[in-house]
Amino acid sequence: MTTTTTTTTTTTSTGPAPSGRLFSQGTNVHYGDFRDDIMHNGYAVIKGAVPRDRALKYADQIYDWLEGFNLGFKRDDPSTIHKDHLPDINEKGMCLGYAVSHESFTWAVRQEPEVIKTFEKVYDTEDLIVSFDSVNIGFPSRKDIEPNTPWPHQDQDPEKPGFRCLQGLVNLLPNGPKDGGLIVCKGAHLLSEEFHEVFKDEERIWSWTKEWYGFTKAGQEWLKKRGCEWIKVEAEPGDLLLWDSRTPHYNLSSETSQPRFCVYTCFMPVADATEEQLRVKKMAFEETKMTTHWPNAMHVVDLPVFRNGEADPYQRSKPREPVQLSERAFKLTGIPYLEQMAA
Ligand SMILES: [Fe+2]
Repeated sequence: MTTTTTTTTTTTSTGPAPSGRLFSQGTNVHYGDFRDDIMHNGYAVIKGAVPRDRALKYADQIYDWLEGFNLGFKRDDPSTIHKDHLPDINEKGMCLGYAVSHESFTWAVRQEPEVIKTFEKVYDTEDLIVSFDSVNIGFPSRKDIEPNTPWPHQDQDPEKPGFRCLQGLVNLLPNGPKDGGLIVCKGAHLLSEEFHEVFKDEERIWSWTKEWYGFTKAGQEWLKKRGCEWIKVEAEPGDLLLWDSRTPHYNLSSETSQPRFCVYTCFMPVADATEEQLRVKKMAFEETKMTTHWPNAMHVVDLPVFRNGEADPYQRSKPREPVQLSERAFKLTGIPYLEQMAA
C-alpha cells in the first residue's frame, strides 16, 4: 500500500509540521494545532468542523428518523421520550439496530470534508477508511430504561500498546457542562503502558472484546495519584471531538432538559487493515451492517434488537434509502483498495 503524504497547511515557528502519523516522532514535536492537544492531553476538540447549521440539520434528520418509526415519538413533546415510542436506544444513548450506521445522516456526517481532512492530518495520508459506527441519541431524564452508570474504559487491548486508533464523534446539539456526553481522563494515554505493566495481574472486568479494557476502582485510583483529571468535554453543534483509543473515557447522561445527539466518526489508514479485514468491511457495507468504531471492521455488529422482550418488529436491516456516496466517500469503504489489490 502506498502512502500519500499530504501537505499540511499548519506551520509553526520552528518550521513545517512533522511528517508521518501522529506519535510517530514521539511527543516532543510541535504541530501548532489540535494534534498537539491529542499528543499531550489524549483528546482534542475541532471547533466547527461541520458548519453549525448543517450539524443542526443532521440533528433534525435524526428527529425525522425517530418520528418516522410512527411509534408516537414527537420531538416537541418530552412525554413521548419513552421506549414504547422510540427505537431501541440503550442507557448510554447507543442505538445499535435499524441499519442506523448506514442512514443518510450518518453517512453525511462521515463525508463532511473537514472531518475527513482532520483525520488525513492525523495519519498524514489520504488513503483512509471509515468505520460504520453508530449514532448516540441521549435523551435526558429517562426513567423508562436503566440508569447510565459510569464505565471508565479504554478501547484498546493492553497487550497492543502504542497509538493505534483515533476515535471521534461529531456533536450535533449544544452540549454544555451538564448536558451529558464524553468525559475523558486527560493525559492518561501517555501512562497507558506503564499502567498495564502495574496492573497486568489484576482481575479484569469482563469484556466481549480484547480491545476494551475497563478501569477498576484501584486502576482509577492509580490514575488519580498520577495527577490525571477527568474532563467533561463541552461542545457546540458541529464540533468534532477526538480521543486516542488509549485515553480512558465514558459518557454521562444529560442532567438538563437538553438531549445529546452525535455521530461517531473514526478513520484509520487503509494500510492498517488486512486484505481479509477489507473483505469483511465490504460485506458489512453491502449488507449495511455496523462495525463498531474500528474502521478495519475488526468487529461486525449483528445483534438482535428487542422490544418488550421480543424481537423488535420495527428492526430493519436496511436504511430507509440505499446508501449514496461521493467518490471520496466510496474510497472510505475500502472497496476500491480491495479491487486494486485484486487487479
Ligand atoms: Fe469507548
